[in-house]
Amino acid sequence: MAVMTASMTDRLQDEIRSLATERKAVLLAHNYQVPEVQDVADYVGDSLGLSQQAAATEANVIVFCGVHFMAETAAVLAPEKTVLIPDLDAGCSLAAAIDADALARWKDENPGAVVVSYVNTTAEVKALSDYCCTSGNARQVIEAVPADRQILFLPDMFLGAYLERVTGRKMKIWPGECHVHAGIRPDDVAKTLDEHPDAELLIHPECGCASQCMYAATESPALGARTHVLSTEGMVKRARTSPRREFMVATETGILHRLGKEAPDARFYAMSERAVCRYMKMITLEKLRDSLLEMRHRVTVEPELAARARGAIRRMVEIA
Ligand code: 13P
Ligand code: SF4
Repeated sequence: MAVMTASMTDRLQDEIRSLATERKAVLLAHNYQVPEVQDVADYVGDSLGLSQQAAATEANVIVFCGVHFMAETAAVLAPEKTVLIPDLDAGCSLAAAIDADALARWKDENPGAVVVSYVNTTAEVKALSDYCCTSGNARQVIEAVPADRQILFLPDMFLGAYLERVTGRKMKIWPGECHVHAGIRPDDVAKTLDEHPDAELLIHPECGCASQCMYAATESPALGARTHVLSTEGMVKRARTSPRREFMVATETGILHRLGKEAPDARFYAMSERAVCRYMKMITLEKLRDSLLEMRHRVTVEPELAARARGAIRRMVEIA
């Protein structure tokens, strides 16, 4: 692949900005996007923030620099808008962990249970769900379900285990995982704690290390005081306001660019350099430019399916 110089990047970003104006498009980018895509976007944020932006925008076109389920969620929330994704292959291993047939069978085995789906799911799965949530509001969503109801939580087992711990609520949990976050192990945490003894730990609840970190944090008040399990946007807010200025970050490494911009006086270290989502990295400046030029790739959700998925997604956007 040809290396892009700074002036080529600037030229492409200028081209993208003027195409976005011409098309009356808003560019939404997830915190895991490559730096040059984050830098050209109108809004950079987590799954919840991006959904809220999609629901509220007055633009005619939403270009989603993220993965497919995110663009699909935007299409459900804003059916009158044109939603584009620069690369249709930008999928998600977690969203692929359960399909609608498997969920329908799980519901049949558990009549009367309330289904809470993480936003990393297909529209078909959301259409069979009562609530949708993101890492930014999962706890509040679980707490909104009446205490006497059984909950089926899907598809992330690490987020599910974390939620059981913080809410004290026993749930049935689908055994899915995100390969990127599951790969961040307790050993990575132990090693980085030795290397940066004063750093604060910012941990995404999809991580394989999250439950053990929470356990270690309750055993050691000193460690507990500097351990925070947060969505990606929660990490940005924490880095801005924490009195500590050194942070170990356990999530996809794309967040480091955003964190560096939002808290330039702080130092951030990846808990694992291996934590790279190849799907998020499929979106490049060239593909974003081509997406605006050719108005591709359009993401649509069939109206009847969208109507069924919308209730769970709206509840997610409202419980913020
Ligand atoms: P948030 O940005 O909502 O924390 O989600 C992380 C993620 O893995 C999205 O795919
Ligand atoms: Fe999906 Fe994991 Fe990539 Fe997020 S980081 S988009 S959960 S594969």
